[in-house]
Amino acid sequence: MTDKKTQIVQAQIGADPAYGSIAPPLYMSSTYLWPSVDEKGLYDYGRSNNPNRTGLAQALAELEGGFGGVITSSGMSAIDLCLNLIKADDLIIAPHDCYGGTHRLLTHRAEQGRIRVKFIDQSDTAALNAALAENPAMVFIETPSNPLMRLVDVKAIARAAKARGAISVADNTFLSPMRMQPLQLGCDISVHSTTKYLNGHSDVVGGAVITKSETHHERLDWWANCAGVTAAPFDAYQTLRGLRTLSLRMDRQEANAIAIAKFLKKHKSVSKVYYPGLKSDPGYKLMKAQQSGPGAMLSFELAGSKDAASKLASQTKLFRLAASLGGVESLICQPSTMTHRGMAADARAKAGISESLLRLSVGIEAEVDLIADLQHALTKTQQ
Ligand SMILES: Cc1ncc(COP(=O)(O)O)c(C=O)c1O
Repeated sequence: MTDKKTQIVQAQIGADPAYGSIAPPLYMSSTYLWPSVDEKGLYDYGRSNNPNRTGLAQALAELEGGFGGVITSSGMSAIDLCLNLIKADDLIIAPHDCYGGTHRLLTHRAEQGRIRVKFIDQSDTAALNAALAENPAMVFIETPSNPLMRLVDVKAIARAAKARGAISVADNTFLSPMRMQPLQLGCDISVHSTTKYLNGHSDVVGGAVITKSETHHERLDWWANCAGVTAAPFDAYQTLRGLRTLSLRMDRQEANAIAIAKFLKKHKSVSKVYYPGLKSDPGYKLMKAQQSGPGAMLSFELAGSKDAASKLASQTKLFRLAASLGGVESLICQPSTMTHRGMAADARAKAGISESLLRLSVGIEAEVDLIADLQHALTKTQQ
């Protein structure tokens, strides 16, 4: 077993069967020759299978120690795909502070009668045990949570889910395989929005579902083809290309995030910093136990109103105002009006997402420039 850093660089290199190209070729064809009328080749139709998706799926499955991967058109379609493993009326337990799009999907699937869902604070053992006592079919985990960076004990939840016969699914988008390995912590499935760290350049929307078991993989692969949620070849090609630098990007982004979190923590206009990389953070101990680093996402509250937060978000120059994360460039967003807008106001309040909260996706720029940018914006906001 080679190191993950080596695996991502070497994935599919020199594997081209036609010309021995070092970089994997892009296969755009929507259809493939059949050797004869009753015998299809390895690839037959682009929705069902494609060499670029296969290459990316193998690379991700290897990185997370899974049996296989399904590459989808977005992170949301990856999460929705997982719902095919359970029946109508089955219960899903999900975190009350999950990504707004996941909250919306599960809420509306439940309203359609396609599933039942219970959103709980998964760090509250009593609430978790009460929900598990209802025999859920699936337990959905998102850690660190978005946008408050709360951590939950993945190993303990996966074990408890298993004891109840539930499938455990972890959204590993925020940490990537470089910082957490959900399948090794006992989960059945790891999902990603590959839009974020895995591609890392903010130029692809995509998703991935990595499963531990062959049975789950086969069922999800079948459904992805049946429902047509597989990714376009170019997106898979581009994502594998981006993946190669994941370890370098993550190291640099995380180092910048640690420096920024320490800077914000000391600043008088900042009332709270949410970042498990700070020793004072409630998640620090768990971060050390289940992750190989805190990652590069953090949030903070401004001492002041929503207006102060909006003002700050419009004052930064390097931190661009946009609602995504995980790219090489730094971004800032106000979750209550941006990423979590689709979540009902009372659900937001229950999850602790205030209007003065700001979220940063820290990029690979020079630390000194990023801190100067925030310092400048904080000063302007006070004026
Ligand atoms: C944690 C998390 N999961 C899933 C998604 C959905 O991914 P996509 O936008 O690729 O559909 C996002 C998007 O921001 C996310 O932050």
